Amino acid sequence: MCGIIGYVGKRTDAGVLAVQSLKRLEYRGYDSWGVACKTKDGVIIRKDIGKISTVDSADFQQPSSLAMAHTRWATHGGVTTENAHPHVSCDGKIVVVLNGIIENYEALRDELKTKGHEFVSSTDTEVIPHLIEEEMKTEPDFAAAVRRACLRFEGRYGIVAMHADSFLLVAARTGSPLIVGVEKDGYFIASDTPAFLEYTSTVQYLDDGEMVVTDGNSILFSDIATGEERTKREIEITWSVTEAHKGEYDHFMLKEIMEQKQSIARAVDQDEDQIQTLARAIHAAQGTFLVGCGTAAKACMAAEYFFSVIAGHHVNFAPASEFKLYHRFLKPESLLIAVSQSGETADTLEAMKIAKSKGAKVLAIVNAEGSTIAREADFTLHIKAGPERAVASTKALTGQMAVLLLIAYAMIDKLPKGRTRLLETAAAINDMLNPRYTEFIETIAERIQESSDLYIIGKGWNYPMALESAIKIQEVSYVHAEGFAGGELKHGPIALIEKGTPCIALVGNDEVRTDIISNAIELKARGGFIVGIAPERHAVFDEWIRVPDVDTAQAIVNIIPVQVLAYFLAVKRGKDPDMPRNLAKSVTVK
Ligand code: M6R
Repeated sequence: MCGIIGYVGKRTDAGVLAVQSLKRLEYRGYDSWGVACKTKDGVIIRKDIGKISTVDSADFQQPSSLAMAHTRWATHGGVTTENAHPHVSCDGKIVVVLNGIIENYEALRDELKTKGHEFVSSTDTEVIPHLIEEEMKTEPDFAAAVRRACLRFEGRYGIVAMHADSFLLVAARTGSPLIVGVEKDGYFIASDTPAFLEYTSTVQYLDDGEMVVTDGNSILFSDIATGEERTKREIEITWSVTEAHKGEYDHFMLKEIMEQKQSIARAVDQDEDQIQTLARAIHAAQGTFLVGCGTAAKACMAAEYFFSVIAGHHVNFAPASEFKLYHRFLKPESLLIAVSQSGETADTLEAMKIAKSKGAKVLAIVNAEGSTIAREADFTLHIKAGPERAVASTKALTGQMAVLLLIAYAMIDKLPKGRTRLLETAAAINDMLNPRYTEFIETIAERIQESSDLYIIGKGWNYPMALESAIKIQEVSYVHAEGFAGGELKHGPIALIEKGTPCIALVGNDEVRTDIISNAIELKARGGFIVGIAPERHAVFDEWIRVPDVDTAQAIVNIIPVQVLAYFLAVKRGKDPDMPRNLAKSVTVK
């Protein structure tokens, strides 16, 4: 979604810094951008549609120590320069950026119009500077006026504001993440840590309903509703700057796919006592529910199979966006397992809220340290994948599945066995992801790149991976891809198969192997071009992508060649796999 960065402090290159930091937030997905910096000549604002990567930060070289910048992912109002942030008050002095949605903006705009305010955009954001301006007529203190304005907003938002006549950065949060980066002589306020990781790894988190005011020397956190001061700990985050760079790779997506050589082993490195406690909590729970969105949801679905096959224990999966209807099944003895890479997904947070309102406990499995989901859960396990910058989730998925598989083993008191299985899998992935392997997948991508449709089948834990394969291919290559449970083909989807239609079969050496091979044969009989992803060759495969035989971890390895295939399909079709159209990395609206 939208990206925000603000800086105030002793640096004198705040404009340049804001542009550079904004470029580090590009991965979040956006359609327009804007920068504001305070200089001796007043506040300079530049905004435009398109990519910030084309902007030369030297254009913002004027000495400045207070600046903010924003990438917009359009919700209210089209993609136009007028709608890009920052937005300003009538006198042009109050400058605001927003991540989120002000739901009651129409009523506020009507009210402000009757008071003489003029609007130039069709956004919800523009009401914010005007309302602050209105409040300042009776409350001249800028920060206090921001607080008063916030009391009138409905919705989920993260706001950063500055005033041409002050040297303050003011931010407020209800629902959309804002993180403070602490330097010796200044402060950053951003929607995500990669924005300032280059400069500092010391952070302070704003919680919902809090605001922060800083002049670069000191910082004050307070409660928006009561105005009471809040104390905050400084936390060191472990993600490194190099992890957030592309390095030798052309794209983050490929870099992150390749990092699975190491990230799965890191995911397995969990505190034994904590995993055992969680396993006991799942045993004791009267109803365990797994929720997530998109790719994280597919990890949850796979976990249903892990828990069933390994631990013989029934858990319930629901897409987080559908969880509202499950409240009837929740009680204080229930357990919700929320899975999320970013830890900021609005639908997943909503599911947690529903569970908590019924007294149920929440376990979070997240990647982003200090994220809202991580902080609001009763217990949190980190998958330790490091920053995932490509919009398409790859290493986070396999990390999530690794942790869930580990818990399934812990439930039958076989944690060491689970750990060994996963470490062997990590080693096998290391061997598998060699240059010859990826080049071979590239040739398959070349062969099918012109196809308009692609189908993927799987059975058992490979069924959620078939669904995940479809997401991966859709989001980066824009090829129409659909995943099916192999057995469902003859109930409808097989009508779509024509001569040459590419079909991927995800196969393991497991109890459903014969069935999924039969399904592949059914596809081939209708003309399908069969790409088999399997530990062993079979005559039905027109192309065979070999994967190691890793028993219960098969779903984890089977998805990796599809990630590589999706990547090459995107590149061959001239698409940018890191920044797919219409998508955002962290989906903070419902
Ligand atoms: O940050 P989260 O894991 O909660 O995000 C959930 C989905 O938005 C995310 O997995 C999305 O589906 C990815 N773009 C898929 O690659």
